[in-house]
Amino acid sequence: VSAPKPVQTARSELPIGIFDSGIGGLTVVRQIHKALPHEDLVYLGDTARVPYGTKSPATVIRFACEDTAFLLRQGVKAVVVACNTASAWALAALQREFALPIFGVIEPGARAALAQSRNRRIGVIATPATVRSRAYPECIRTRDPRVRVFAQACPLLVPLVEEGWVRHSVTQAVLREYLAPLLRQRVDTLVLGCTHYPLLKSPIREVAGPHVQLVDSAASCATYVRDALQKLDLLAGDRPRRGTIRPYVTDEIDRFQTMANRFLGFPAERPRQVELPPRSV
Ligand code: DGL
Repeated sequence: VSAPKPVQTARSELPIGIFDSGIGGLTVVRQIHKALPHEDLVYLGDTARVPYGTKSPATVIRFACEDTAFLLRQGVKAVVVACNTASAWALAALQREFALPIFGVIEPGARAALAQSRNRRIGVIATPATVRSRAYPECIRTRDPRVRVFAQACPLLVPLVEEGWVRHSVTQAVLREYLAPLLRQRVDTLVLGCTHYPLLKSPIREVAGPHVQLVDSAASCATYVRDALQKLDLLAGDRPRRGTIRPYVTDEIDRFQTMANRFLGFPAERPRQVELPPRSV
């Protein structure tokens, strides 16, 4: 009697792993779930160590490696770095270190901005760390050196969104301050280069005016990941059921639960709390 053959799951059937410094990356999960409704998603929010946007490059790279290693242990077929800050500083290191497809949010956002801009003047708003990395300007200008990119760090926006102050006079005033230099430069396209900013789309639109087109890096990333997985023959295909979203966090789960639904746009599953063992590149 021959031994039963082990049941092998095709790689394309495995979930996609997505990580962020915290809860904001659920804006990317939301878009990936919309673009790829049959894919199972595993999400890691490093809520114990958020924010990444004010930390040094070496720290961001170390955290991103630990996040990716965790997702690999969950048996994912590909990893999406939902965090703009981690994409900006760590994507290249992660791609060198880990042997599976890893996607970030910067290139999709940069490509979308290039496709939309008419006057070749593009604004980028992001965390201080993302702006310091110059990842967006470099990615845009290697594709079209005639484009001028104006980047503005907006450190106050993440806490304002997390506080739920989306429709608030304080947020309006802060946006006016941050966007003024970009508007003076007559940008016609503005990249929302941070996980949290899609939630601020309407107030940003009001301050920026109708002549500035907004690029949602979360939405651009979802289309990019769909196309890339298709090329790699890694899409799960049309399953009869909808994909699941399994969340993990590194800090206690209460705060996640209250905020997650806002970023995701629908009720999130209860997350599991995990510890990430140290690991470096
Ligand atoms: N997820 C971060 C980003 O997109 C924002 C929050 C943080 O600073 O960690 O850059």
